Amino acid sequence: EPTHPLAEALLDWYDTSARTLPWRVSPAALKSGAVPDPYRVWLSEIMLQQTMVEAVKPFFARFTSLWPTIEALAAAEADDIMKAWAGLGYYSRARNLVACAKVVAELGAFPQTEAELRKLPGLGAYTAASVAAIAFGQPAAVVDGNVERVMARMLALPVPPAKAKNAIREAVAAMVPPVRPGDFAQAMMDLGATVCTPRRPACMFCPWREPCLARQRGEQDLYPVKAPK
Ligand code: ADE
Repeated sequence: EPTHPLAEALLDWYDTSARTLPWRVSPAALKSGAVPDPYRVWLSEIMLQQTMVEAVKPFFARFTSLWPTIEALAAAEADDIMKAWAGLGYYSRARNLVACAKVVAELGAFPQTEAELRKLPGLGAYTAASVAAIAFGQPAAVVDGNVERVMARMLALPVPPAKAKNAIREAVAAMVPPVRPGDFAQAMMDLGATVCTPRRPACMFCPWREPCLARQRGEQDLYPVKAPK
């Protein structure tokens, strides 16, 4: 199917505005034929589940230098991995990381579909979709907190995003382009992190400023709607 006009506009924005992140292959490099390393994509997405980008950076650097491949991680002492994880918190992530590394090393490679990825220890809906899209170019709908906020404004969602998870996922799924689904997913996350921020979004710089319903109404600050206390 053809690329959705909104996806097209977002990908154009991403070509010039993508953040440079240690685990990311730039849109230009991908265009030149570089391929993402599924191990680095998976490791970063697990670390980013509950931890901010800036806090993840030093841990990602340490892990990839100590254990450059999933085979190396699978062969490591669980104790050493837990020690290297110290500071990131949410230690169940580290225990699942060890378990997942062993399963994938045994399999010989990461599975490539969202459904198969979902079966691995520590991979929920978000992580399975993000690895499928970013590492394997699958047209998966990737929805994290940033994406929820972007969509809440785009659609002027009258309820808190937590109450409209299916509607959000379907709206995102309808936009996922057949080409560059991984860039599309990361572009949504970057848009939320750098332009469509929680407070005072920088609508002037947004590739979706015209179609955005909240912005059309001048009500971008009223979304996402908060849950009553
Ligand atoms: N947050 C979690 N994963 C991310 C990614 N791949 N790019 C940008 N922000 C993210």
